[in-house]
Amino acid sequence: MELLTDRLRLRLPRADDAERALLLLRDPEVRRWNPVGPDPDLDAARAWCVELGDWSSGGHATWHVEDRASGLFVANVSVFSIDDEHATAKVGYRVLPDARGRGVAREALLAATAWMFTERGLARIQLEHAVANPASCRVAEAAGYRLEGTLRSSYLLEGERYDEHVHGRLATDPWPETGPDGAG
Ligand SMILES: CC(C)(COP(=O)(O)OP(=O)(O)OC[C@H]1O[C@@H](n2cnc3c(N)ncnc32)[C@H](O)[C@@H]1OP(=O)(O)O)[C@@H](O)C(=O)NCCC(=O)NCCS
Repeated sequence: MELLTDRLRLRLPRADDAERALLLLRDPEVRRWNPVGPDPDLDAARAWCVELGDWSSGGHATWHVEDRASGLFVANVSVFSIDDEHATAKVGYRVLPDARGRGVAREALLAATAWMFTERGLARIQLEHAVANPASCRVAEAAGYRLEGTLRSSYLLEGERYDEHVHGRLATDPWPETGPDGAG
């Protein structure tokens, strides 16, 4: 399950990721666009990591992403709603606030996508993000997830409704210029 890119190591989530996972789960931007439930404490963050590290259901493949230079846990990328009958799934990602602005999400997404197509045999992966979250749109496009349409008023946050973009990537789509390791 371990995947290496130029700058990153994608590995199974572990209980000892909990402290930095708590920073992730409490970050306002993550809480805005990637709902993760009520305000967590360290025990809840630890339980979250342990749960994500268990792939035995076959329904998801979730990696914690380390910066290879520092060894620091910097991001989470999760392929979920895996449907083996249709060979489809969805994907989401979150980067720790102190690791943003360096293209980490794109690089991790490319690596996870390549593995899901080549090793897990998926044919299509779908990605949804709020239209009001342009950084996520850039990440999707840069990783070769084409914009396929807009889900009107599909996301509810604190009483306000938002449109979402749907992006999709097929196993047969060409890789972006950076290639599947994405360091570009
Ligand atoms: C969205 C997120 C994953 C991006 O992480 P990242 O890898 O640090 O992304 P970067 O800051 O390197 O930005 C990626 C691209 O978006 C662009 N971008 C960043 N913020 C932007 C903004 N506010 N408006 C427009 N573009 C923006 C960057 O310029 C970059 O573009 P480029 O590839 O052309 O250089 C991260 O901000 C995050 O975890 N946010 C909270 C959780 C979240 O929104 N997850 C996605 C839910 S679908």
